[in-house]
Amino acid sequence: MAEPTDATRERWASELAARAAAHWTPARTAALTNGKALRILPAAAPHLLRALGLIDEDAKLPPTRVRKFLQINHMVALLAPALAELCAAHPVVRIVDAGCGRSYLTLLLAWYARSRGHRVEVLGVDRNADVIAEAQRRTAIAGLSEIVRYAATPLEALVLPEPPHALFALHACDTATCDAITLGVRAEAELIAVAPCCQAELARGWAALDDAGTVGDFAPVWGAPHLRRELAAHLTDAMRVQLLRAAGYAVTALEFIAPEHTAKNTLIRATRRGPPDPAARAAYDALVASTGGAGLALADRM
Ligand SMILES: C[S@@+](CC[C@H](N)C(=O)[O-])C[C@H]1O[C@@H](n2cnc3c(N)ncnc32)[C@H](O)[C@@H]1O
Repeated sequence: MAEPTDATRERWASELAARAAAHWTPARTAALTNGKALRILPAAAPHLLRALGLIDEDAKLPPTRVRKFLQINHMVALLAPALAELCAAHPVVRIVDAGCGRSYLTLLLAWYARSRGHRVEVLGVDRNADVIAEAQRRTAIAGLSEIVRYAATPLEALVLPEPPHALFALHACDTATCDAITLGVRAEAELIAVAPCCQAELARGWAALDDAGTVGDFAPVWGAPHLRRELAAHLTDAMRVQLLRAAGYAVTALEFIAPEHTAKNTLIRATRRGPPDPAARAAYDALVASTGGAGLALADRM
């Protein structure tokens, strides 16, 4: 199918904006938001919401997508203060979205920063070329192609032309979250925010201890596959927090979305604050030692 011309795109964009303005009266908007002051509203962001598949061509938001609409607003609200800090500090804010998939977060970040009148350059990175192609299509729909670029490459092989100020990774698989943290720390990014996904590295280490018949206080956990996976996931995050602190970041780990939406709802938010912290590194080492000796490859890369 032929690519739409610039003129076709512009006509479509202005027609969608007109439909959104007509449909999203103050009364309908208030009913949708329950009177809350949300940052992303259909009348102001129809192209973004269309690109994300939330509103239809008629600019209406079907009831089944309201929950997702509220989720993305919640996510932007959580990240907005840290983004505002970066915008105050830099004339152009460079952001990397690691393991960006079809670009949900990439587009939200780009749109939000631009809506604040700030210049941003966003780079979405994913090893899957097909999802990058889809992300590029969505970016054009959102009207963000001038400020969002993509790289179809594994994070491990990524060469950044300039260091980013902020590094995000939303549900990047297993050790890809650690790859994202490594990228951010090495680039001395001021903000690193990751929501980990299916971490399995530590569980594999514990399974190996069990296979080897190792004796230890945690042996009952090493030998129980479900408990091993669950506990290892949380401990992996606790270890990541300590390693980020050791690298000089102030770190919080918080629930960023209600568990009924996704069980992978921990957000690790790290802000570069000062010199490396040897006490945090010692806390990481103690955590590893007390649970049997298996740790994260991330520790050697920091
Ligand atoms: C669960 S999806 C999440 C996508 C997106 N961040 C979101 O939340 O919608 C994880 C993505 O990470 C990508 N990924 C996993 N490991 C990667 C790596 N080492 N380098 C680059 N991309 C990776 C996958 O291709 C996939 O698109």
